[in-house]
Order: sequence, then structure tokens, then C-alpha cells
Amino acid sequence: MSKILVTGGCGYIGAHTIADLIENGFNVISIDDNSRSTRYLLDGIEKLTGKKVKNYKVDLKDYNDTRAVFQENEDITGIIHFAAYKAVGESVEEPLMYFENNLFSLINLLKCVDEFNIPYFVFSSSCTVYGSPDIIPVTEQSPIKKAESPYGATKQMGEEIITSVVNATETKAILLRYFNPVGAHPSCLIGELPIGKPANLVPAITQTAIGKIPSMTVYGTDYDTRDGSCVRDYIHVSDIAHAHTLAIQYLLANKNKTNCDIFNLGTGNGVTVLEAIKAFEEVSGKKLNYQIGPRRPGDIVAIYANNNYAVTTLGWQIKYDLHEMMRTAWAWEQKIKQDEEIIKDQKFQYN
Ligand code: WQD
Repeated sequence: MSKILVTGGCGYIGAHTIADLIENGFNVISIDDNSRSTRYLLDGIEKLTGKKVKNYKVDLKDYNDTRAVFQENEDITGIIHFAAYKAVGESVEEPLMYFENNLFSLINLLKCVDEFNIPYFVFSSSCTVYGSPDIIPVTEQSPIKKAESPYGATKQMGEEIITSVVNATETKAILLRYFNPVGAHPSCLIGELPIGKPANLVPAITQTAIGKIPSMTVYGTDYDTRDGSCVRDYIHVSDIAHAHTLAIQYLLANKNKTNCDIFNLGTGNGVTVLEAIKAFEEVSGKKLNYQIGPRRPGDIVAIYANNNYAVTTLGWQIKYDLHEMMRTAWAWEQKIKQDEEIIKDQKFQYN
């Protein structure tokens, strides 16, 4: 059974990917310093799969601690690297924290990949690398434009670093460029646990609907789009997770076309903010309390994916539509309200 190391395994996409890997026969370990997560999602994975996933509570910025995990696990076949800070707004306020955390972690990990000859490496990248595209939908060959935030810059630099390293070693890599991951596992045992006031649209919607926040703001309806609000490609987190399993299987089967293949992970459908809210109201039966406010600095008007390469090359099939994304997100918000004391007791805080 191939052993896969997932970094950021206690986080939103990491946990969903671990569940999918286990369901597809992989043995999985996690590295997560729990600075922005808790065991809560790993406990959910155990309920879902019956497997207790070992998490090494290690800060990847500490090279010696990171190296020790590889010394203890000489049978790691592949790595899926999620662990990074990912809040666009925070990255603008704290650029050095983002460059240090996201890049030092990656470099330490790649030093271990080199020393321990890990054959396969999958990187959590983002559509943010495209900046504000001139032509949509974007393909993997669409131009990489100047990053709109330090967060986006760390993803662009991360891709460059990985590409250079794999071209100089025997390791093969895949870069997965996510569009907007939303929703929760249909079992309602794992989902997103945002920290503090939610920056992203769907947690803002569900936290408003459940009363955790009094209302939410639609950041601008004066854009040149069909209803004036921004267009994004929302993609269910379980579809994103399964694409990672397919990527590892693709590498294990030596099907990769280059040392570093790139795939867009989006549905190919552009959805406006107001359409997303309408879909939520339809599945929840609740009228959402929102107001229209000014544009949010840094937002791009519209982006959505051409996902043909992932569909045809990885055999990726998207299972969840927008209503299912909203239905699972809403079910999860109600679930974590029931568990809020458990989550608080797990010291869910920034270290
Ligand atoms: C989506 C749309 C907002 C909140 C970023 C990163 C991306 C990924 C996801 C990490 C925008 C509008 C939002 C709200 C709103 N990051 N919105 N009111 O900015 O497209 O993508 O987060 O994985 O890499 O770039 O996602 O959900 O923040 O915003 O109107 O309260 O919803 O203006 O148009 P974004 P988002």
C-alpha cells in the first residue's frame, strides 16, 4: 500500500484529500503544526474511514523537525503539499509572514524530497496565479500575470521553485491550480473550519444564515458582468480532493507528460456572487441577510476554468453541482454549530 505524506492534513482540502486517498487504498500520514487547525477534521476522517491518521505536529519551517519525519518514514512514495497560509487580505497586511511561511516550508520540504529521493510531489496551487485574465475560460497555457497579492505571489514562486527542482532531480511533480473550493464532504463529518471572520464567500453565506454573523456584504454589483457581481468557478472540495488521488495514481503509473504537469481544477462554469447566494437560498429555504457594499480591493472581475486537460488526462469527473455545493456547506455549518464547544476546547486559535 503506497504511503502518501499530506502536509496540512488537518486543514480543509487536506482532510478531504486524506479521506479520498484512504478510500482509494492509500496509507496516509500528515504533517500539520495545528497553528491554524485542530484534530477535529482527523477525528472526522476516522469516523468516516475507520482509519486513525497519524499527524506529526511539526512546523515545516523547522528543517530538522521536518527531516525527522522522513527519517521515521523511509517508505513515503509521494507528497501532497497543502500546508500554507491562504488568506488574500491577510497576505497584503503581512507579506513577510506569508513569504517566510509559504516559501520556507516548501523549500525545507523539497530539501527532504531530494535527500530521501521521494519520487512524486503534488502541489496545491491556485487560479490566483493567472491574476486578472484577459481571456476566459483560462487554460493551463493562459499567461501568468503579476500576482494580485503576496499570497498569489507565493503560489507563483512555489510553482517556479518546484519546476526548477524537478528539472534538476528524478522527482516528478504535478501542479494543481484550484479555482474556488467550497462545500463539505457529503457525510458531514469533515468540512471547512474558517478562523475568525470568514473572508471567503461561502462561509460568509453560511455563517450569516446560521446567525454566527449578523449579515454579509456583497462586494460590488457594478462590475461588467451579467448581474454586476464578480464571476468565479466554485468547485466542490470533494471533487478537488479526488483530483489529488487521480494525480498520484497518474504519477505512479508514469503517465506524466513532463517533469511537472499542470492541471486546472474548476468546473468550467462561471457563477456570479448573486447567483451563488440565490442557489444557497434555494437549497436552504432561507432568505439571506446581505447588503450591497463597495468593491473589495484586489478582487478580479471574472475567472473560470477550461478544465478539459484534467478531465481528459486524469479521467477527472466532476460529481457536485452548485446546489450540492451549497447544500453540503449549509449542512456542515449546522453540524459545527452543534460541535462548537468541542471545537473551542480543541484550542482552535492561532498559536
Ligand atoms: C469570491 C467572490 C468576492 C466574501 C480567494 C483566493 C483563492 C482561494 C479562494 C485559497 C469575490 C465575493 C466574498 C464576502 C463577497 N484561496 N465575496 N462577500 O477571492 O475569489 O479567491 O479565495 O484557497 O486562491 O484568491 O474567493 O470567496 O474570497 O471571493 O461579495 O463576504 O465573493 O468579492 O467576488 P476569491 P472569495
